[in-house]
Amino acid sequence: MQKILNNKSFDELKTWKDLVDHQKKIKDKSILDHFKNEPERMDYTWLEWDDFVVDFSKNRIDKKGFNLLLKLADNADLKTAIESQFKGAKINATENRAVLHTALRTLDTTPIFVDEIDVIPKVKATQEKMFSFCKKVISGQWKGYSGKSITHVVNIGIGGSDLGPAMVVEALAHYKNHLDVSFISNVEGDHHEEILEELNPETTLFVIVSKTFTTQETLSNAKSVRSWFLKQASEKAISNHFIAVSTNLEMTTDFGISIENTFPMEDWVGGRFSLWSAVGISICLAVGPDHYNNLLSGAGKMDLHFRYTSFEKNLPVVLALISVWYNNFWNAESEVIIPYTQYLKNFPAYLQQGIMESNGKSVGRDGKPINYQTGTIIWGASGTNAQHAFFQLIHQGTKLIPSDFIGFKKSLKGNKKHQFKLLSNFIAQTEALMKGKNKLEVKEELDSIGMDINEQEKITPFKIFEGNKPSNTILIDKLTPSSLGKLIALYEHKIFVQGVIWNIYSYDQWGVELGKQLAGKILKDIEGKPKYSHDPSTSKFLSLIRSSF
Ligand code: F6P
Repeated sequence: MQKILNNKSFDELKTWKDLVDHQKKIKDKSILDHFKNEPERMDYTWLEWDDFVVDFSKNRIDKKGFNLLLKLADNADLKTAIESQFKGAKINATENRAVLHTALRTLDTTPIFVDEIDVIPKVKATQEKMFSFCKKVISGQWKGYSGKSITHVVNIGIGGSDLGPAMVVEALAHYKNHLDVSFISNVEGDHHEEILEELNPETTLFVIVSKTFTTQETLSNAKSVRSWFLKQASEKAISNHFIAVSTNLEMTTDFGISIENTFPMEDWVGGRFSLWSAVGISICLAVGPDHYNNLLSGAGKMDLHFRYTSFEKNLPVVLALISVWYNNFWNAESEVIIPYTQYLKNFPAYLQQGIMESNGKSVGRDGKPINYQTGTIIWGASGTNAQHAFFQLIHQGTKLIPSDFIGFKKSLKGNKKHQFKLLSNFIAQTEALMKGKNKLEVKEELDSIGMDINEQEKITPFKIFEGNKPSNTILIDKLTPSSLGKLIALYEHKIFVQGVIWNIYSYDQWGVELGKQLAGKILKDIEGKPKYSHDPSTSKFLSLIRSSF
């Protein structure tokens, strides 16, 4: 195992101790205190880049703390790590792979070498193949077996082969063409049957997406869908209706998909970072190559910003450091992400895989167990819906939950009245979280409705909001393919920065393998004569399930 990144333990970084001390020093100061004490606060906490504003002023941090965090990034050799990633070094050491989703959206053709081979020509060739195929399907030139054009696309994949494409297709619904796009992911039979009920095989294109082409869920779904299709069409018709995206061209051929209908991906693209590769073909079909290209170039711009901007103005670096601050020095366990647009309602779910599969690790890059917190728990939903669901807990619960508020200045359909209401909620919530409501304000409110003093005394404790709840605000001009590309890339780089600082490998996912292996054994015990030994609880469930069929 060749180690490219350093393996300095996070808690042994020079600035770690300073940060621990600094947190103790400022822990009783509120965010409002920081505003009072720092007349220049907005100068360093308000960051503008392209069509993005990131404001991190509403956080429990002061200038000194922020500077210490910047030093921490230097202590962790972040700059070198960023360069190693962009240049194609095999920083995913446990899988001996480079990590090059950035090569898929690079804005130029500067060579990037992996094993002494420039990857860019292959990237461009696959993109051309993909774009030309998508154009044929969208224009109706690509015909189904009965001569009709395609009207419906079904993406069959799971994890990174589903979440990214599904999230982006939904996010870019405003830019969509006439093709309907559905997603089959779960191995649950009801899931794919619900979708198949609505489909006409003559006009449907199935896209089987699996980096490995060995994933149980995807292969089972693909086989069942193929059987359904063959009840109505001939084997010959498969080539008009099934395409595949994979690194495993042997398995795609075995499945009966020709090389012509297969779109390759490389092993240096992690599943959860793969929507920029041929895995994004459903996105490209849904919105067309021009919009898809804008998505890529938006991400490419964020890559340049991340690679070349000094850390104090570098959006992914700053957001990563703020998150490390709460995770490791304030013991916050989770982060909530609230996009103020329904188009991004699945963005938190998408980020759950990106963030938690990447940084949910407990072994350092030196192979030793680590004794500090790593990956944060990510959750969230769209605003304002989220306000009426879980905001109570953020405002008045006992837990410290740092939040990211993501909003867009302009709406897509131009309804200003609603947009003003949406944005007023977006801004009001971050202000309310920070300011809270004190006893005096509660009293004024209760006086104004004429409540008598005795009643006031009883109800007041419940109406007080302690405030001082931190948030980052990300305000973007408008939701476009390009700004979405930037936003996704922003979080991708945040993941990487945190992995470097925490001294973990962010690009493997061995933790998911155990469940896969156990499910295989249990399946054998459900389908045939049980042969594996299990604990009493598992055995009881097995016999219950066996006796129900
Ligand atoms: O959940 C584990 C995982 O390996 C993810 O990392 C990946 O995105 C998903 O399974 C699907 O894998 P594949 O694309 O190989 O089917």
